[in-house]
Amino acid sequence: MTERERNVLLEAFDSNWIAPVGPALDEFEARLRSIAHTEAAVAVTSGTAALHLALLVMDIGPGDIVLCPSVTFVACANVIEYVGATPHFVDCDPVSGNLDAESLVHALSSLDSAGHRAAALIVVDLYGVCADYTTINAICERYDVPIIEDAAEAIGASHLGNPAGSFGTVAAFSFNGNKLVTTGGGGALVGPADLIAKAKHLACQARQPVRHFEHDAIGYAYRLSNLSAAVGIAQLERLDSMMSHTRAIHRRYAEELGTIDGVRFASQSTDGFGNGWLSVAHLDPSLHPSPTAVCDALAQHNIEARPTWKPMHLQAMFTSAGRTGGAGSEAHFATGLCLPSGSSMSNADQARVIQAVKSALNLEEAPVIDVADQIDIADQIDVRDGQSQQHQGNRATT
Ligand SMILES: Cc1ncc(COP(=O)(O)O)c(C=O)c1O
Repeated sequence: MTERERNVLLEAFDSNWIAPVGPALDEFEARLRSIAHTEAAVAVTSGTAALHLALLVMDIGPGDIVLCPSVTFVACANVIEYVGATPHFVDCDPVSGNLDAESLVHALSSLDSAGHRAAALIVVDLYGVCADYTTINAICERYDVPIIEDAAEAIGASHLGNPAGSFGTVAAFSFNGNKLVTTGGGGALVGPADLIAKAKHLACQARQPVRHFEHDAIGYAYRLSNLSAAVGIAQLERLDSMMSHTRAIHRRYAEELGTIDGVRFASQSTDGFGNGWLSVAHLDPSLHPSPTAVCDALAQHNIEARPTWKPMHLQAMFTSAGRTGGAGSEAHFATGLCLPSGSSMSNADQARVIQAVKSALNLEEAPVIDVADQIDIADQIDVRDGQSQQHQGNRATT
């Protein structure tokens, strides 16, 4: 966060629009529309709420099958259950973690042969890299399956010149505290005006525009606060600079760690431009310790790292759900290490992480510099709350 976020937040506070309505909310939504090249946007309390609304406005409910990648955050699968539909998990690429096209074809053709049609496919732009929509769109058109784009991690990314958020019938963003753009918790649904109007209505308790409290459906209290939206406006102003920083971090990791035997990084693009939200190294298990062991070693240097998302078909609630494949997703989880990727990381932070990873892989014996010894991060860290900013700079995932 910078002075700009603070000032815009205080302006919103002073305007007294301290409610889930107000000028900052309108402006935030206008900016999101323009970033995603969509007709409309509605800002809500979380990415999960946005995905839930996506299913509701597409009239998906009990009896419907919704396809979902196995490698993703649990929200994607949970919302399918929220509406009473049935999830079916599709395998993912072992390195990028994005949806595997061959498994998708296999899933759709098997459903087709059994006389079923999927009501929708949720496509996730994992770790800020858009999925391969050229291939996925062609497959979905063949089977007449609409796409819901989960762009929770991907604001600012693009595929063949089209921005994240523009690919599905509707698309969801997340502004959780761990995302590239944050409102401290929030999300948005973007898409065509009619569907977004329907989502906004449901997000406002399905209240009719009359003086008394008249409701025409079961609604939700999902609107984002005007204060949170104000923070989001200032964050969006900095999107390009934050993104060029996170992309540079990814390039540096790939150059300095990706050249080690048995360490791989997914490409930052599938014919496009990833936003660098999260840099993920894949460690060949025959040559390197497990991601969990490396996380433990990094934790000793006060560096936060995590394994990748655990596949949905391995989560307790979904072990008996339908699925197509799973080996690619399991390999992704077994080998993936999410490295600190925060947009406030300094050069010295990155050097410290790289050195600590090399040391965890037993490639360098040199001691890792302690945070307190770093000199050139002083310009990045406000002395008053250095601890919390340092934590954010080193963050890996939630
Ligand atoms: C792929 C994906 N989908 C959905 C979500 C849910 O967003 P939120 O945490 O804002 O509810 C997240 C993030 O947390 C995510 O990474």
